[in-house]
Amino acid sequence: MNIDKIVSLCKRRGFVFQSSEIYGGFKAVYDYGPLGVALKNNISKIWWEAMTQFHENIVGLDSAIFMHPKIWEASGHVGGFNDPLVDCKQCNARYKSDELSSDENSKVLWSEIQCPKCGTKGNLTEPRQFNLMFKTDVGSVADDSDIAYLRPETAQGIYVNYLMVQNTMRLKIPFGIAQIGKAFRNEIVARNFIFRTREFEQMEMQYFVNPKNDDEALQEWKAKRLDFYSELGINRKRIRFQKHGKKDLAHYAKEAWDIEYEFPFGWSEIEGIHNRTDYDLSQHQKFSGKKMDYFDQQNNQRFLPYIIETSAGLNRMMLAVLSDSYWEDVENDRVVMKLDPKIAPVLAVVCPLVKKDGLPEIGRNIMSILKKEFKVIYDQQGSIGKRYYRQDEAGTPFGITVDHQSLDDQSVTLRHRDTQHQDRVSIDQLVKAIKNKLENFHE
Ligand code: GAP
Repeated sequence: MNIDKIVSLCKRRGFVFQSSEIYGGFKAVYDYGPLGVALKNNISKIWWEAMTQFHENIVGLDSAIFMHPKIWEASGHVGGFNDPLVDCKQCNARYKSDELSSDENSKVLWSEIQCPKCGTKGNLTEPRQFNLMFKTDVGSVADDSDIAYLRPETAQGIYVNYLMVQNTMRLKIPFGIAQIGKAFRNEIVARNFIFRTREFEQMEMQYFVNPKNDDEALQEWKAKRLDFYSELGINRKRIRFQKHGKKDLAHYAKEAWDIEYEFPFGWSEIEGIHNRTDYDLSQHQKFSGKKMDYFDQQNNQRFLPYIIETSAGLNRMMLAVLSDSYWEDVENDRVVMKLDPKIAPVLAVVCPLVKKDGLPEIGRNIMSILKKEFKVIYDQQGSIGKRYYRQDEAGTPFGITVDHQSLDDQSVTLRHRDTQHQDRVSIDQLVKAIKNKLENFHE
């Protein structure tokens, strides 16, 4: 399957739009339409609950995007968050050097490599380091202003707040702090739709452990995070782990694993699970001059905890969900987004068969009953077949049709998105019938 099919469905149905489209778009930035924001919120809600509701020792945080600039020096991002870049002097195209040469030694003859865009040779520059952080000035007077960075990861906000969170919530190690928020990277090569963008959302959980227990905690979180993808309804066969080799390890990591999904463009990372050791806390201790160690009352010991990080991209997770759900039902000439009902933007559409004869009134009454329990929408535009197919593409699990029989016996049809099977259900039993069907939706 080609990613373009997902891109066009996302636009057609209001999941994702190119940012600033009326101005020709803004590269590698996307807006989320009514269905997209609902899907994204549903996914992040499940993640948030999986972390902060199902674990008594994990609490939430919402730290600011702007932080003291020294934080990014301490974390290593000012000095080391770079991509090596090569420019074509002929056509101004820009590449990450590893896109054009997989040769790891630095003796690549760039003058001999052809520019993939204009096809000329001899015009590529030598690679130069390019920092991925967005930099801006803060302050009303230019001279007084301080440099500020848009955070490239949400993690640092957790590290610098960890002792306050631990104290206020009286947490004992091991404990975790979870955060969902925007992150920004000036990606050079932004491609594959919402997979790699310049503005994105991360869902990160930092788990603070005794250094003696780091390996065990990493294993525990690998297993938990893998299970999470089944929760979202993603096919287990399209999920795998990839271990980082020594040369790919980030500067802070002792061990790192990616959770990859088999996207239409190949296996790619959606989440990283890292043993960051005490790297970040010791750096902040050094740069801020403040003690960052944890006091273990029971053993009367002070130490810098090790951190096991689970770091997922919400937008990538959504793209994985969309790719996994996309189904061309050739037999019935329709496209269906087989979204798990837990995350579907809309649970049911209510459709009066015609716009007259009292059917819309019954439809509206059903809406008022169902909206107390589920996200439902009302649609009376176009033929019933077209209305259903629109909702199949939107991933709406149920269709409810009010027809002339409804006038006689107060019953409606309840249609299952994937099988198109319809049951006759009395209106006063509709909530119960939907709840029953949700329990065995995939059978
Ligand atoms: N705190 C660790 C960290 O940020 P990372 O592997 O650089 O680690 C974690 O990023 C996750 O954030 C990735 O697995 C991915 O899902 C998401 N992510 C990173 N860069 C992204 C980008 N440019 N666009 C969309 N998602 C991105």
